[in-house]
Amino acid sequence: MSVRNIPVEQLTVEQAQEELKALAKELADLDKAYYQDDAPLLADWAYDALKKRNEAIEAAFPDLVLSNGPSFRVGAQPSSDFAKVTHLEPMLSLANIFTPEDIVDFTDRTRRFLGLDANAPLDFVAEPKIDGLSFSALYEDGFLVKAATRGDGAVGEDITQNVLHIDGFPQQLKGKPFPKRIEVRGEVYMAKEDFERLNQTDGGRTFANPRNAAAGSLRQLDPQITAQRHLKFFGYTYGYASELLWTTHAEFLEYLKAWGFSVSSDIVLCKTNEDLLTYYNGMYEKRAFISYDIDGVVYKVNRIDYQQQLGRVSRAPRWAIAHKFPAQQAQTRLNAIRIQVGRTGVLTPVADLEPITVGGVVVSHATLHNADELVRKDIREGDTVVIQRAGDVIPQVVRVVLEKRPDNAVPFTFPERCPICHSHVAQEEDKAARYCTGGLVCSAQALERLIHFVSRDALNIEGLGRQNMTLFFQKEWIKTPADIFTFVKRYALALEMMSGWGAKSLNNLVQAITRAQHNTTLDKFIFALGIREVGESVSRLLAKHFGSFEALQEAALREDALSVLTKIYSVGEVMANYIIAFFQEENNQQLLAQLLSLMTIQPYVASGSSSHPLYDKTIVFTGTLEHFSRNQAKEAALAKGAHVSESVSAKTDFVVVGVDAGSKAQKAESLGVKKISEKDFEQMLAIL
Ligand code: IVH
Repeated sequence: MSVRNIPVEQLTVEQAQEELKALAKELADLDKAYYQDDAPLLADWAYDALKKRNEAIEAAFPDLVLSNGPSFRVGAQPSSDFAKVTHLEPMLSLANIFTPEDIVDFTDRTRRFLGLDANAPLDFVAEPKIDGLSFSALYEDGFLVKAATRGDGAVGEDITQNVLHIDGFPQQLKGKPFPKRIEVRGEVYMAKEDFERLNQTDGGRTFANPRNAAAGSLRQLDPQITAQRHLKFFGYTYGYASELLWTTHAEFLEYLKAWGFSVSSDIVLCKTNEDLLTYYNGMYEKRAFISYDIDGVVYKVNRIDYQQQLGRVSRAPRWAIAHKFPAQQAQTRLNAIRIQVGRTGVLTPVADLEPITVGGVVVSHATLHNADELVRKDIREGDTVVIQRAGDVIPQVVRVVLEKRPDNAVPFTFPERCPICHSHVAQEEDKAARYCTGGLVCSAQALERLIHFVSRDALNIEGLGRQNMTLFFQKEWIKTPADIFTFVKRYALALEMMSGWGAKSLNNLVQAITRAQHNTTLDKFIFALGIREVGESVSRLLAKHFGSFEALQEAALREDALSVLTKIYSVGEVMANYIIAFFQEENNQQLLAQLLSLMTIQPYVASGSSSHPLYDKTIVFTGTLEHFSRNQAKEAALAKGAHVSESVSAKTDFVVVGVDAGSKAQKAESLGVKKISEKDFEQMLAIL
């Protein structure tokens, strides 16, 4: 039995410790997928279940609570491409409740905390819980100066330019007095109708739900894209405020409206538990008819002085709570299990279902996540299954109705070959996912791989960006990397006839391709292959270590390949196995032979001057840097010939320590690795 299935009361200390560690990692990955990549891996209910399990173990074993664990984190670290904004007051999350009894507990607890009698009047404001992306907008003297996403609650991403492209977002407060300085907070969302339209028109990029579409549209480095996406917003609270001109939350909402913020029209003042429940039930009924997604309701203590007394507990206020809607379930027959190959090669089992209506939507497919999940839930073709929809996330199979299992149902066997290209299937180390080792030769992955192959940090072929590559791929002019070097000749006439491809641009493209064909350095070529986990920095190390592609290939195919590869700094066993699997796959061998016959690979030349203090040094960044995003810092270090690693070891030369540095700084300390400040780092960069 997996630890996950043991009731919390029966866990040993060791088991609890192990599970808390695993949950911390799992929740961090899920948070990253949800908040940074806008691509949730789990439905909300499943995520909430993991979070609850984590909380229950923490409550039972308070000594084991991890200081960098899920309870101390809201959302995910901001992604590195946006400038960072430190919120003046942290952006909090909300605790969840699910039942009418929970309402009683909440209001009783609140009264007790305030020292009020059990029957003393206490007003709440009930609001819809909008399923969007929270923002914080700072106004000084009534002018918008900065808008940010929540990020990890303390530091978010600068989206000022983006919100300026949202229709009607106030650039200046008006209508009523305002504090000198205030952080107005609320939710940016996409209306259901706009979401449907976007998903139909946006060149195949489909978002799972309006929340992700809103997040993906707002977190655009190009604000013009935000402008086209018809985002809307609601204001519902504030962070820092230099003066409080209101005494109740209801009054604050009036200020918001006067200042020019949209405020939901479904907000109600509630005096009793019955009022709250009636509101909840009413919104639950109304949910399908509201123009935007809501995943529950929020109850807030109305009086601001009470809110201040109540304060917060770790990451959530005591004065507000989210009452979540239940997931919607139904039973249906699972007709077949199909294996889908994603753009990154991950194989996902998908259930083909007898179509059924769940919460007003016809469902005919559900994700089965991965092979482990199939085994754990023992899901078989022909089974009757309980499926569940939460929000608009892809439906999930909750469990099998065993009583209805047909006699001839057999356990599902996961294929050993990719259903698309027949390359071998391998399992991700430490992870449940299986993936196709075909990479560049697998048509399910080919387009993304091709785009990566020619991207700036790989072969760097200008003129073959995502748009053109997609076009040539759809026309089947470029199906494999080798085609890149031959297609212009083959389709010259057709290319010339295409609008936008004059003789000049064609000539430029040919030149860029020829340059890549003969001038690509070994490190860039290795990176271009898109081997799992082999990023730019490892590609450089491999290039430096082996000196030629043939030497790398020969090493990866040797019997002792694992021990040869793991001797290289920063190549661990997991990565070495990915490298070996890549070179062992016959389809890849054919492709490489083709490429090597067409290309001349130039030797790797380390950038930077060998006399520079960062040259050939291995450095690690930790904490938040004030003047650089992580990517900028990394690029700057690489340009001086440094190696950038994610983790600290005895081989690390420097750790650059930013604000709120965590365990990496401690590890550097314990290993005696030199720590330097952001300022020291900047001074080093300044040396030519
Ligand atoms: S109040 C400290 N009101 O739900 C108060 N939040 O699950 C926190 N949300 O982070 C915000 N609708 O992004 C509040 N009417 C509403 C809301 C709302 C949606 C979001 C918000 C928050 C999350 C917590």
